[in-house]
Amino acid sequence: MAANDSIFLGAHEAPGQLSVQRCDACGHDLPELDASPACPQCGGLLAIIHRAPVDAMGAPSTPAALQHAFSQHCCARPAGHASGVWRFEQVVMPNAGSAITSHPEGNTALIARPRVSAWAGCEGLLLKHEGYNPTGSFKDRGMTVGTTQAVRTKATAVACASTGNTSASLASYAAQAGIPGLVFVPAGKVALGKMAQTLAYGATTLLVRGDFDQCLRLVQEASKELGIYLLNSINPWRVEGQKTIVLEILQQLGWNVPDFIVLPAGNLGNTAAFGKALREAHALGLITRMPRIVSVQAAGAAPFAKAFREDFATRYSVQAETIATAIRIGDPASWDRAVRTIRDTDGIVLSVTDEEIIDAKVQIDAAGVGCEPASAASVAGVKQLVRDGVIKSGDRVVAVLTGHVLKDPGMLVELHQQRDDFALANRPIEIDASVQAVADIIAHRAAAQERE
Ligand code: F0G
Repeated sequence: MAANDSIFLGAHEAPGQLSVQRCDACGHDLPELDASPACPQCGGLLAIIHRAPVDAMGAPSTPAALQHAFSQHCCARPAGHASGVWRFEQVVMPNAGSAITSHPEGNTALIARPRVSAWAGCEGLLLKHEGYNPTGSFKDRGMTVGTTQAVRTKATAVACASTGNTSASLASYAAQAGIPGLVFVPAGKVALGKMAQTLAYGATTLLVRGDFDQCLRLVQEASKELGIYLLNSINPWRVEGQKTIVLEILQQLGWNVPDFIVLPAGNLGNTAAFGKALREAHALGLITRMPRIVSVQAAGAAPFAKAFREDFATRYSVQAETIATAIRIGDPASWDRAVRTIRDTDGIVLSVTDEEIIDAKVQIDAAGVGCEPASAASVAGVKQLVRDGVIKSGDRVVAVLTGHVLKDPGMLVELHQQRDDFALANRPIEIDASVQAVADIIAHRAAAQERE
């Protein structure tokens, strides 16, 4: 069992502090404002442990009082106004004060789309669309908190390794905070929309000749030696922000717990954050049972799914390859934390092929919703679990769509305009500038529809 199994600070721990950073491996505590990227004693990952929220009299907050507080925008503070992250500040970063750097972010839609539900075979399927965040992915929820911490610790620069979304998010928030941003991405393996954002927001962008796993090792070493504040999802404050995906889902469902929450998994930061959110929500009495967390990997990048089948006896790493470049990760950093999430929630880890990811994406896109390829892994995972009889009729399932459809336009152009073997290709049609040409196309379409 890990040294750090605490959920909240005990009454006599860390007097006078609202939160501490505690090492997962050895239990060593660091003060809230220490900028170390990992435990200085043993190199383990740090996690934030908060004091449980209390009311004005110092008594533990009741679930009803917390639910009410979470439903309020923090209007008193312009910086956090309307943010779907900072509404939850008591359990995210209770001491942020005026340092909050918020776009705002969060408050994303939880939507039902009959076409997608029918395809997956799951009537009770809801889609939590994190692509509706300001830079188009769920990363903004962690980045607002991580950047706020960078401001609090007076960081001179911030850095991350990324498959593209974290770098886009970091670039945006660093620009807002006025802190130079440095990103390390695998050369030639970042989707076009993400690369364009990172450049536009002004981060220094390093195209590393290597994969994401090499980028992560490099940025960890560089940040240690050069004193740059590390904003990957091993940063404990990023995890705090990403917890709000789960809190917001629960809130949107009136604090009724769904049966399954399904998400795509790469570096496992989000899987780790979901488990922490649920353990805390349970300890605070906000929920009385756990949903089952389902982490879905791409088959070409599935070390965690392989380990799950063997009850996590071995920590694997693989040479990753998948069309879903966001989750093209072979050596996930938040492994142990994600194992804890799966164990605590009776969770499941599975893998889906690139073909299954494309099939799911085509359905999500055609429903008018759209998402990037990695995000569709969650819906592909739902279909697999329905087929295997794990998800049953009547179950309520939330699939998280982690990124926006515009993140990977290159893949869409290839699919719809260049490939010959894609039956559902929606090719653009070049015409002369005449009404007759338009009429011809409409007639052609109508005839084709009648034949179907
Ligand atoms: N979906 C999308 C769209 C992502 O960008 C990522 C990760 C994941 C899922 C997986 O989340 O790593 O927490 O398990 N993207 C990171 C990045 C690695 O650099 O943008 P995870």
